Amino acid sequence: MASSGFSAQQIILLVAVAASLLAVIQAETIVVGGTENWRYGYNYTEWAANTAPFYFQDTLVFKYEDTPAHSVYLLPNLRSYLTCNFSDAKLLANPTQGQGDGFSFVLNQWRVLYFASAEGNDCEDGLMKLIVVPWPRN
Ligand SMILES: *[C@@H]1O[C@H](CO)[C@@H](O)[C@H](O)[C@H]1NC(C)=O
Ligand SMILES: *[C@@H]1O[C@H](CO)[C@@H](O)[C@H](O)[C@H]1NC(C)=O
Repeated sequence: MASSGFSAQQIILLVAVAASLLAVIQAETIVVGGTENWRYGYNYTEWAANTAPFYFQDTLVFKYEDTPAHSVYLLPNLRSYLTCNFSDAKLLANPTQGQGDGFSFVLNQWRVLYFASAEGNDCEDGLMKLIVVPWPRN
C-alpha cells in the first residue's frame, strides 16, 4: 500500500468521487409519454405504471406544442391531484415551454411528485396527470 503513493484518505476520496460520477452517469432522461409526448387523451397513469421505477436524479421531459394549450403543474398532495384542484399548485411550465426540446424536470426531491396539466379539461378528462416516486438508484 505504502508504495502506491496514495494515502487511505485519498483513496476514500477517489472512491467517493467515482461513486458520485457513476450516479450522474446512470441518471436517465425520460420523455413523459414516450413518443406520445404530453397530450390530451393519453393515459399517463398507465404510462407511469409501465415506466416505473423512476430514480432520484433522473430527468423527466415534458414535450408539447402550444396549440391546444397544455402545461405542467406540481400539485401539493394526493387530494388536489385526485380532484384536479390547482389552487395551491406550483406552475412548472407554461403552454409555450413544452416546445422544442421540451421542459425538463430533475427528480432531485425525496417526495411523491404529483404532476398535471391545468389547461382546459386536460386533468379532469384528458388523463394528463401522473404520480412519480423517485427511488434511490442503489
Ligand atoms: C388509465 O390507466 C389506469 C391504469 O392502468 C386505469 O386504472 C384507468 O382506468 C385508465 N383510465 C382510462 C380512462 O382508461
Ligand atoms: C381546493 O383546494 C383548496 C386548498 O388547497 C381548498 O381551499 C379549496 O376548497 C379546494 N377547492 C375545492 C373545489 O375542493
